[in-house]
Amino acid sequence: MHGKKVAVLGAAGGIGQPLSLLLKLNPLVSELSLYDIVNTPGVAADLSHINTPAKVTGHKGAESLGEALTGSDVIVIPAGVPRKPGMTRDDLFNTNANIVKTLAEGAAKYAPKAHLLIISNPVNSTVPIVAEVLKKHGVFDPARLFGVTSLDVVRASTFVAAIKGKNPEDVHVHVVGGHSGVTILPLLSQTGIKFTQDEIEKLTHRIQYGGDEVVKAKDGTGSATLSMAQAGARFTNSLLKALEGQKGIVEPTFVFSPVAQKEGADFFATNVELGTGGVAKIHPVGPMSDYEQKLYAEAVVELKKNIAKGVQFVKGA
Ligand code: APR
Repeated sequence: MHGKKVAVLGAAGGIGQPLSLLLKLNPLVSELSLYDIVNTPGVAADLSHINTPAKVTGHKGAESLGEALTGSDVIVIPAGVPRKPGMTRDDLFNTNANIVKTLAEGAAKYAPKAHLLIISNPVNSTVPIVAEVLKKHGVFDPARLFGVTSLDVVRASTFVAAIKGKNPEDVHVHVVGGHSGVTILPLLSQTGIKFTQDEIEKLTHRIQYGGDEVVKAKDGTGSATLSMAQAGARFTNSLLKALEGQKGIVEPTFVFSPVAQKEGADFFATNVELGTGGVAKIHPVGPMSDYEQKLYAEAVVELKKNIAKGVQFVKGA
């Protein structure tokens, strides 16, 4: 049959539900498998009434992880606990690390050829956790593991457009590094837009800590869900198009990458060209201003720590 099987793990959550809705509307999805520890039969029944071709199934509880995953081409993982005010993404580490490790073990066992898209935070550490689990099972293919960082780019376009009076869809910002605080590096010098140094510093800070605006506004009830779901659906759609053979599809994403390896960071986000096997070509960072070079150095120091924490979580276990 035309289309791919996409599994969403954590499908009943704040990100999982709108993400599943957007995927149900995607014509490249033939089967949508929804997994969570709560509520997935209800979410699946609800979505299944939408008159698009994707067949929706709901799977609840650990004993149904195998049936949820078997045959999946793409697995998107937003499972976990969200941030509360005052928490950084790194504060989520212990809870989410355990959840992601268990789900990665399931993926290694039931869908070893699937593409894995990680949304659960802290992405800088959860992606290395998944890599280590897959390595332990002998099924790690770096071309099929992605940390979803699209929201950083989406936010960067929106925030730049807001101060420059532009249509955000026409603003393209290359955001590199990782997906938390100082590891997020927007390369505003590559946009072709003129900024004052004050604008650059304020925009950089807003892009790095944009997620905190949502955490604060939600007043203790969670972090970004709707914008994250849209960004996750956008990335999934791009990957599905590439898997179908469309050429020239480029998305920002956090992958196993040579870009900062000599500085000790095995995973790094830059623009990546996607192909039928997942990662086809990793773009370099490109030219940086002096200010960006300084931030790059800071980003790599922090990123190395985040990656090591994820690796150690699996290796030390
Ligand atoms: N297996 C599957 N699903 C799980 C598990 C598990 N072991 N543990 C928790 N979940 C589910 C929850 O039942 C819930 O439905 O994950 C979902 C998480 O939803 P929310 O609590 O609403 O959190 P959300 O805002 O969606 O954020 C989830 O994504 O961006 C990140 O920082 C965010 O790490 C957080 C994650």
